[in-house]
Amino acid sequence: MIDTSLYSSHIPVMLEKCMALMEPKPGGFYADGTLGAGGHSEAILKAIIPDGRLLAFDLDPAAIQIAGKRLKPYANNVRIVHDSYVNIGSYAEENNLDGFIVDLGVSSMQLDQRERGFSFLQDGPLDMRFSPDRGLSAADIVNAWPEEDLAEILWKYGEERKSRQIAAMICAERKNARIETTGQLKDIITDAVGLGKEKIHPATRAFQAIRIAVNGELDAVEAVLPAAMKALKPGGRLLVISFHSLEDRIVKNFFKTESKDCLCPPEQPVCTCGHKASLKELTRHPVTADEEEIRVNPRSRSAKLRAAVKL
Ligand SMILES: C[S@@+](CC[C@H](N)C(=O)[O-])C[C@H]1O[C@@H](n2cnc3c(N)ncnc32)[C@H](O)[C@@H]1O
Repeated sequence: MIDTSLYSSHIPVMLEKCMALMEPKPGGFYADGTLGAGGHSEAILKAIIPDGRLLAFDLDPAAIQIAGKRLKPYANNVRIVHDSYVNIGSYAEENNLDGFIVDLGVSSMQLDQRERGFSFLQDGPLDMRFSPDRGLSAADIVNAWPEEDLAEILWKYGEERKSRQIAAMICAERKNARIETTGQLKDIITDAVGLGKEKIHPATRAFQAIRIAVNGELDAVEAVLPAAMKALKPGGRLLVISFHSLEDRIVKNFFKTESKDCLCPPEQPVCTCGHKASLKELTRHPVTADEEEIRVNPRSRSAKLRAAVKL
């Protein structure tokens, strides 16, 4: 049974700044790749009624149920799809969208649902899948992947300096008993790295890394950017909110490359690549939450918003 009052636990990040960059207009056609609790979707819908349309994606059936209830007043204007945002091209034809937003990562609702296994703050089954019926769970990965692969994701996605110690400890412990819960994994990580003097819990980085691996989150960001550009019409706007430096780097590099007319090395006198700019950046530097927002919603502290307009 899903507690539909949970959506109030997720505050949409940089909502006003997003709307100022998106400029949603009545009658327009927009997409929200990450519906979550429906905060950004609701703001877009308010701006585009009576005749605008919104496509809203989420991989999480619980988010769809919760946000679906919230967006009921806009039922004629919104189509909610249980699919990955990378498949935008299957729902919107080329050169059709006026705006597309993706707000990456995990929602507060998902963190708060013990049984989803995203958080080490509550003991639950070690799952972490956005869509609980698709792909490998965190327990599948932690109990089966070779030690080197575990160390690599902890290092790469979590920037965890003690990645090797943690991977070694996981592999030693799983010989005794399968690791099934967030509590077990938290204890193993804490034993491997010690409590230390850091402000964050020692399991924070490892949990984030495993979640990114479980959901193929970086591959999804790589895939959605060109797909979004195809679906947008000229003048359409693409907004991405990221919470991880690797995600932001993917967006930054994509925007940089796609805003240039030529990608030939600077020493080459004549262009031979024929590359044409397909977008203009609206944010030269990433937009971040201000102090007041961070005070009210600490989750917004690490958010980076980048936006571009299709040429
Ligand atoms: C940070 S929340 C979005 C919050 C939302 N903007 C709001 O205002 O309530 C991210 C959501 O994206 C979903 N998600 C993550 N990866 C996805 C993907 N590849 N396709 C569709 N949804 C995805 C997650 O399940 C989660 O509900």
